[in-house]
Amino acid sequence: MSACNKYDVLILGSGIAGLSLANYLIDKQRLKSENRKLKVLVVSKGEVNETNTAWAQGGVAAAVDTNDSIERHVNDTLAAGSYANDTDVTQKIISQAPEAIRDLIGWGVQFDKKSNGDFDLGLEGGHDHPRILHHQDITGAAIQHAIQEYFTKAGGEISNHTAAIDILKTADGFWVTLFDLSRHKTIRIFCVHLVMATGGIGQLFTRTTNTRYSTGDGIYLSHQLGAAIKELAMVQFHPTGLYVEENSSFLISEALRGAGAELLDHKELPFMHRYDPKGSLAPRDIVSRAIWQEMRLSGKEHVWLDARMISPQVLQHHFSNIVSNCISRAGVDPAKDLIPVAPIQHYSCGGIATDANGRTTIKGLYAIGECAHTGLHGANRLASNSLLEGIVMAKFVAQEITDTLQQELQIPTESAWELPMVLSLDISNVKKIFSHAAGVMRNTAKMKEALRLLEDIRLNGNRIPFNVQDFENSIILQVSILLLKDALSKKSSIGVHYIEA
Ligand code: FAD
Ligand code: SIN
Repeated sequence: MSACNKYDVLILGSGIAGLSLANYLIDKQRLKSENRKLKVLVVSKGEVNETNTAWAQGGVAAAVDTNDSIERHVNDTLAAGSYANDTDVTQKIISQAPEAIRDLIGWGVQFDKKSNGDFDLGLEGGHDHPRILHHQDITGAAIQHAIQEYFTKAGGEISNHTAAIDILKTADGFWVTLFDLSRHKTIRIFCVHLVMATGGIGQLFTRTTNTRYSTGDGIYLSHQLGAAIKELAMVQFHPTGLYVEENSSFLISEALRGAGAELLDHKELPFMHRYDPKGSLAPRDIVSRAIWQEMRLSGKEHVWLDARMISPQVLQHHFSNIVSNCISRAGVDPAKDLIPVAPIQHYSCGGIATDANGRTTIKGLYAIGECAHTGLHGANRLASNSLLEGIVMAKFVAQEITDTLQQELQIPTESAWELPMVLSLDISNVKKIFSHAAGVMRNTAKMKEALRLLEDIRLNGNRIPFNVQDFENSIILQVSILLLKDALSKKSSIGVHYIEA
């Protein structure tokens, strides 16, 4: 980080949302002839590439095939979301998908093609047409690498191992306190535009596909500022997490089912057609609930995924990362063995409320990517619409910021500030209480009891001076409470929020 502590734009997060915004701002600057160079800083809690983005497998959804259309993609998004989506926002984001793909390619992303030069489009649950652009089964790693390279080559400024821990709003912008996790010291930065791109909330749960940095910081910090938070109850569970007794966190991409793999019960018989006519390729909320039901009926910890009908060439070429992880983590070879799978926390459809241009309810504060709630996903996100939303919303925010840019960067005098106190917590107990109540199947009495227990911990827990670990744990506790309150405010089941009678 440079010695200068004022920036036009501070972006919290280095995944597809944060780095795409930085790259769009770089591109816009190149087109402008003004003398003053926009000062932009990207901050990342871990290494720049330790993001959910880098772990994405299936790909990015976009209607680029001549037999496909924006309208069909919109319809699938609305159907998967139980029609709780914001229709205008959905139309706006989905219609930008082909252009977003061109932008990604412009920054160096290589999507797989067939021998005739057309994109090799995958199929995933809830889509009525193959429309998933991918790079083998490591699409996220390919995207992360390319957007990072583009940013670095353009001289972009990034501060790794740095966490935002406190924000103060002023009339002209924000004072943000950053904590340097390597050197254990704080830095205060003033910025005019502040962008939350902090990703998901997986670490609230005992089992998640998300990285260790997915602790809901952006949601917590925005809530502290008074920003509206929406639909936190809408937590998506991916149907097919690789099940191993220890360390179950690896995802088996839905694209494998798109290529023909089928879900089987403990007697090794197909069951999904009993739950939905689309079978193993029904939207995620339906498939996760069906698996949960089958597990409950059989008393087993998982069901099976059968990928043995997929040709060895396709397994090797398209799914080599999944094959090698199944072998190394669970000792199963998808070409010969059934894969044990169970639903696992995967994605937050709710988050910091924004309008269709990424603006939150606080002037100058924006939210993009998984931490935001735009209304695109409704009550259940359509597969591979998340990377898409991240890049498209980044483009809109880049436009917003450029349109409202100040000529001179002013900096107000710094106000007094203290490190926050934190709670000393038994975090595994907090996660256990919360995960038990906020899972695939919910029950009002259990949610009320979990909320009571967590509120009790929050009010009566031991308050100690700031340290990073307990700060992060305190955020997990506070966001868990927000989520349970949102879930309890909903009186009926919809999409991923399913209340058992
Ligand atoms: P992330 O990529 O998670 O980045 C978050 C950033 O915020 C990180 O840099 C982190 O360090 C930073 N951060 C967090 N807190 C702070 C703080 N306090 N201060 C500073 N920085 C902070 N979606 C699809 O569309 N297609 C797929 O194929 C797909 N596959 C997936 C597979 C897996 C295993 C997972 C976990 C998710 C997948 N998803 C997929 C979902 C998608 O990858 C994510 O929703 C998306 O990448 C989120 O991008 P993001 O930029 O919002 O957040
Ligand atoms: C997957 O590859 O199954 C994940 C896709 C997604 O989360 O959209």
